[in-house]
Amino acid sequence: MPERKKMSGSARIFVTNPMEGLIERSGLDPLSGLRNRADCTIWSGNTSVDSRRWLSLISEAEGILCSLGDPMDSDLIRSCGNLRVISSCSVGVDHVDLAAATRRGIYVGHTPAVLVETTADLAFGLMLAACRRIVESDRFLRRGDWSGRPGWDIAAFVGPDLHGATLGIVGLGAIGRAVARRAQGFGMRVLAWSRSGCQVQGVETVDLERVLAESDFVSIHVALAEETRALIDRRALAAMKPGAVLVNTARGGVVDEMALAEALASGRLAAAGIDVFEREPLAGDHPLVGLENAVLTPHIGSASVGTRIRMLELAVENLLAGLDDRPLPHCANLEELRRAGH
Ligand code: GLV
Repeated sequence: MPERKKMSGSARIFVTNPMEGLIERSGLDPLSGLRNRADCTIWSGNTSVDSRRWLSLISEAEGILCSLGDPMDSDLIRSCGNLRVISSCSVGVDHVDLAAATRRGIYVGHTPAVLVETTADLAFGLMLAACRRIVESDRFLRRGDWSGRPGWDIAAFVGPDLHGATLGIVGLGAIGRAVARRAQGFGMRVLAWSRSGCQVQGVETVDLERVLAESDFVSIHVALAEETRALIDRRALAAMKPGAVLVNTARGGVVDEMALAEALASGRLAAAGIDVFEREPLAGDHPLVGLENAVLTPHIGSASVGTRIRMLELAVENLLAGLDDRPLPHCANLEELRRAGH
């Protein structure tokens, strides 16, 4: 384990993204707090991510500020001999080898809580976009396909209603509960499956089979773990109501994407709204890409200006705390570090 040092004005930090677009849109620069306190190297190259390109720049770093698209694997961790903190601007830390970081006594910071409402907004937006065929009809209009047809066609772009339908929530954590609140405002009946047995007023907690069998909309809100990998597999998709809509803003690995593409192509499911994929970025020739009834977004659940700024502020707080050897406001491997005697 590296020797713990109080942070001098010159702790070396590597930041994987210049955040220019966010800084420009918000007029705020949450990185300024870092620049004043540390010797920052900010990667401003093309961010098509390949951490090997950073190695010469990163190997001296005591702290790294990264995000979901930056793999912090065991090779990278091994080659950073002075590393004490990895602070990720994300709630999920699937991209960080937690075991490798913990072995070295490296804190891993993350940014939970602040993105709950924004991610719930996107989940709801995807439900509406998918069932009301908003993106599909936008494409139709922009292609010029509306001209030469009736101005109003009784059969055009009809889809299932959202209001009054049954929503099944898979995972009743903070985001699942925030989606349930929105659904209640739309007059939906809300069912949920919760591994922790969490109870929420107005939400009927049932087993997963009932969620799948009775819901017109199913929205996924479980973290990716051993038990949830491919939870929504071919069998689970077949157990959903014919004509149902699936929404995933959690992690791609929870859903079998090939089976989903087949269920959408055959019309067994009416539509899907998917923000997260097994492999990101999604390949242009992925079977989901060619399907009109799939609304696909590039992992933007937390992408509001306010939420991304708040995430960045938290990530900076985590980083500075770790470098000062103070408790991180949000440490993803705290328990593991304790168990390992750090
Ligand atoms: C988003 O998916 C995150 O983990 O922050």
